[in-house]
Amino acid sequence: MKRSEINPYLREAKERFNRNAFYLPPFAEWSPEQYRELAPDFPEIRTCQLGWDLTDFGRGKYHEDGLLLFTLRNGILHHPVYSKPYAEKIMLSLVNQKTPLHYHLQKTEDIINRGGGCLVFEFFNSIPGMAELDCSTPVEVPGDGTVHRLPAGGHLRIGPGESLTLKPGVFHSFWAEKEAVIIGEVSAINDDHSDNIFFGEQRRFPLIEEDEPPLHLLVGDYNHFS
Ligand SMILES: [Fe+2]
Repeated sequence: MKRSEINPYLREAKERFNRNAFYLPPFAEWSPEQYRELAPDFPEIRTCQLGWDLTDFGRGKYHEDGLLLFTLRNGILHHPVYSKPYAEKIMLSLVNQKTPLHYHLQKTEDIINRGGGCLVFEFFNSIPGMAELDCSTPVEVPGDGTVHRLPAGGHLRIGPGESLTLKPGVFHSFWAEKEAVIIGEVSAINDDHSDNIFFGEQRRFPLIEEDEPPLHLLVGDYNHFS
């Protein structure tokens, strides 16, 4: 993706979060120069991979396959300082913009519709230990006090305020319907480098063409800009 595409998506997300009274921590507004200057005194940001994140999953069509995220908090197992066992994100899914089928090896996550349109999910169980869909067994998805039971490949819609619990091993894909959706995530520790199993070839982080300066750094930029 070009940096000149990413910057406007960050601006749009900030506007939407503000309009929905979801306020981000001060480091969400840091420029790359401020990051360079301040990051040594805020080591948790880089260590725990907090901050902006945006991906086209390596497919080059952000509006079809993509997701914007901001990680607000995250822990690292057995870390002497940052061992909190939980994570929180806020995300933005545009209309019909898909997060492709994936499951998590360790992480249980609650996905919450924080406002906008309907968020649609597709579910499959996985074949244990493989990146393969189990197309024959029904899927059980807890949410808001009940358990939804769906056939393999079944769809579930959640409106503003509703949530689902996605357990490890359950393939899930999601997208916003008719209107963009602000999505919350409350989960166990998040490790995007080793915990995501995608169905088919995907890149979790985009390749970025630097055609203009970044508005804000993405978590994937921290290594190059410090
Ligand atoms: Fe997920």
